[in-house]
Amino acid sequence: MKDIDGKSRVCGLLANPVEHTLSPFIQNHLAQKLGLGMVYVPFKPEEEGLEKAVQGAYALNVLGLNVSVPYKEKVINSLLEIDENAKKIGAVNTLVRIEGGYKGYNTDYLGLKRAMESDGFFVKGKEVILLGAGGAAKAVLHLCGLEGAKKVYILNRTAEKAKKMAEETNKNHQRDFVIPMRLDEYKELSKGEYLAIQTTNVGMYPYTEQALIEEEEFYQKLSGAYDIVYNPAETKFMRNAKKAGVKTANGLKMLLYQGIIAFELWNNQKVEEETANWMYHLLEKEFVKR
Ligand code: ATR
Repeated sequence: MKDIDGKSRVCGLLANPVEHTLSPFIQNHLAQKLGLGMVYVPFKPEEEGLEKAVQGAYALNVLGLNVSVPYKEKVINSLLEIDENAKKIGAVNTLVRIEGGYKGYNTDYLGLKRAMESDGFFVKGKEVILLGAGGAAKAVLHLCGLEGAKKVYILNRTAEKAKKMAEETNKNHQRDFVIPMRLDEYKELSKGEYLAIQTTNVGMYPYTEQALIEEEEFYQKLSGAYDIVYNPAETKFMRNAKKAGVKTANGLKMLLYQGIIAFELWNNQKVEEETANWMYHLLEKEFVKR
């Protein structure tokens, strides 16, 4: 293990609450494995102190930061620059130190892309059903827009939020491919081979017996079911899909790859697939409830 010394570079996470994060585990293990003198620590700023926290981190020569709930949108005001994709998404989860301040990126959508592809899920040309219209849904929509998903149907408990998100995404990507729906309106979708991506908190530990949609009729329309929840390892949504013979995956790889891409941005170093797989198995062993 590499010791912390005078040359160690500090990275960290800004979130509140921050106690349950797996990012320090991922980042510090990667740094040790690759022999880099990077140390990653959790920070818990209060909302009114967020801007000062970013300025203070810069003053302290902090190399980079991750940003999580509830600051992914709010932190944008404290940046010197913002990557074009992060700007379109309207959310930032990674800050990279540049001359004079930080540049903001969104590695959630890139992490999702790498994770889905490594599990054999592709959105290009697909009809996607997106469950949820919160922060995580934004990254999914951006990926669907960039990759050329044929259509995205957003199903959300609060229909108004789905409508607003669909309008914004269609405007951003200059094509009408996102269609908002109420939760039960999937019944109107024709028989098809939809790829469903589940982004709500429903089914997350400890509520392991819940899924946003329970009806078998829904799962029979799918060809793939991707849940960005990773605890439990097999959510009720995934179990329902499996019962209908549909291929499933959970969000642990998305979590891992958003971290790996941030790590690559900070250290200017590519993380090989072999290391990514090693890290994945370590994470699974340590944290995932079966
Ligand atoms: P995240 O950043 O993880 O996406 P979020 O922005 O708070 O979190 O979004 C949570 C999503 O889960 C929303 O789509 C929310 O639906 P509403 O827009 O109707 O609030 C959905 N969600 C959370 N709890 C839910 C529940 N019990 N039933 C249905 N949907 C739920």
